[in-house]
Amino acid sequence: MTLHDTAPLAGAAGTDAARPIASGIIDLIGGTPLIELSRFAAARGARARILGKAEFQNPLGSVKDRIAWGIIRSAEEEGRLHPGDLIVDITSGNTGIALAAIAAGRGYRTKFYLGDNISPDKHLLLEAIGAELVTVPNSLFLDPEALDILFARAQEENPGAFIADQLSNPANPAAHYASTGPEIWRDTEGAVDVLVAGVGTGGTSAGTGRFLKKRKPEVRVVIAEPGEGSVPTEEAPYPDEIDGVHKVVDVEPEQLPGNYDAALVDEVVGVEAAEAYAAARAALHEEGLLVGPSAGANLEVAARLAQRPELEGATIVVILADTGERYLSAGVFGARPEPRR
Ligand SMILES: Cc1ncc(COP(=O)(O)O)c(C=O)c1O
Repeated sequence: MTLHDTAPLAGAAGTDAARPIASGIIDLIGGTPLIELSRFAAARGARARILGKAEFQNPLGSVKDRIAWGIIRSAEEEGRLHPGDLIVDITSGNTGIALAAIAAGRGYRTKFYLGDNISPDKHLLLEAIGAELVTVPNSLFLDPEALDILFARAQEENPGAFIADQLSNPANPAAHYASTGPEIWRDTEGAVDVLVAGVGTGGTSAGTGRFLKKRKPEVRVVIAEPGEGSVPTEEAPYPDEIDGVHKVVDVEPEQLPGNYDAALVDEVVGVEAAEAYAAARAALHEEGLLVGPSAGANLEVAARLAQRPELEGATIVVILADTGERYLSAGVFGARPEPRR
């Protein structure tokens, strides 16, 4: 049975089964469906099945809702967060958006350090929720020690604040181990063969990959990383980028996030931003699916893998990390709009 066979417009539950009334946005985090991308796969000569994990359906529109709640919940349980406290982190946007929204409902304040290259929509959204923002030049990240430097600055400038530390906080991969992995296992009935994800903090690939490999050691974890032309350099500090994901091969070890677990990774495939944007546009035009560039990068990698003879009949699960609405002003779906006067 597919969702299509159930009662019209009723989602997974049908019209007969009552869905419980959510007590707040936290009840709506996770439980995202898998979507068969049959048109996208067929148009690329896929021999394997491509399933998208619809993380854009989380209440704040990204996979980061899972870890934001995991981090806040564990800090509350450990007595490290109290109403009125300030939550601080370094974020490319989505984690900040999720932390700020959950914090709003629980009486915390938020402050984030962001690169000045993030999508304008994310900036507006963070401001709308009420987060305090500190932008730093993207060129800062050319320094291999940039994250350590920024982390130290965040600690120094915010004495007494709770530093969420999504890059190393074990509550991040733990949230994926406890939810994303089991959901994929359950919904594919154990038929998953390949997981495709990007690495920002490494939490998604580590937590989900660890769970799936524990259940089925043959599951392959494939990382979509930005190609050489899509990372900042001295000459070009503002290239088109794949928001939220970073290189994991040929980078200094201190540049790798603490939550990244290379031991779980079977293959890393490079994708340029233009290819990622093209795949995101293809998902929209061929499937009506509005997802962001990191999802596009994962889809591009899935399409390449799905053409391999050895993956004939396999099931590839692709993380669709966030909604494409967050990148309309960034020009991912067409020309950047002229600034409004
Ligand atoms: C849009 C997007 N995709 C993918 C990722 C990578 O996920 P993770 O941090 O779990 O490695 C992020 C993280 O910042 C993100 O914002």
